[in-house]
Amino acid sequence: MAKKKTVVMIVGSLRANSFNRHVAAYLTERLEPHVEVLELDYKQVPIFNQDFEFPAPAAVTAVRQQVQRADALWVVTPEYNHALPGGLKNVFDWLSRSVEPGLPGVPAFLAHKPVLVSGVGGRNATKYARQALSQLLKVLKLKEIVPSVGLSLPPETFITGDYVLPLEQKEALNDQVGELLAALKVVRKGSLR
Ligand SMILES: Cc1cc2nc3c(=O)[nH]c(=O)nc-3n(C[C@H](O)[C@H](O)[C@H](O)COP(=O)(O)O)c2cc1C
Repeated sequence: MAKKKTVVMIVGSLRANSFNRHVAAYLTERLEPHVEVLELDYKQVPIFNQDFEFPAPAAVTAVRQQVQRADALWVVTPEYNHALPGGLKNVFDWLSRSVEPGLPGVPAFLAHKPVLVSGVGGRNATKYARQALSQLLKVLKLKEIVPSVGLSLPPETFITGDYVLPLEQKEALNDQVGELLAALKVVRKGSLR
């Protein structure tokens, strides 16, 4: 049997009960019958410092290897102060750098790798974070294959801490899942409804 393709989830929040991790879990559930899904562990990645690029810290090498072997990436992120969470931006800053001194441009393993973006947050549905991320993905030559999906948390979520995805939010995410699986040629386009 052919090896399953791999999708690496990158969750922009490190919070244990993160609503974005909840979205990532929903996506994983939808994807897993068809592909392998791994969550990128970047908790130990240090703040980028050009003085300590070579040799790369072990946590950076591990992140690079996971991204390199992924057939696609899926970023699910909150918005912090109308921008990307710092930890997530930091991971992409590391990824943008060559693995050996003196090599020009972003690493070849990023080029044209498919990426999807989703995010759940307050009323603006992570609009600014998703805009910033789209721009960043372009610079890294990653390929955002479909428009990002932004979700607003139902107001009671902030009180209960319990996020139950409404049907219309599930549908928007399901559409992204279908697009990715079709792009990876795992299922035929439109066959997952
Ligand atoms: C430092 C910080 C800044 C925030 N800024 C925004 C913001 O600009 N827009 C927004 O919609 N929510 C903002 N929030 C609220 C987050 O949407 C909310 O905390 C959300 O639950 C974070 O995602 P998570 O549950 O995946 O950790 C902010 C939260 C924090 C901690």
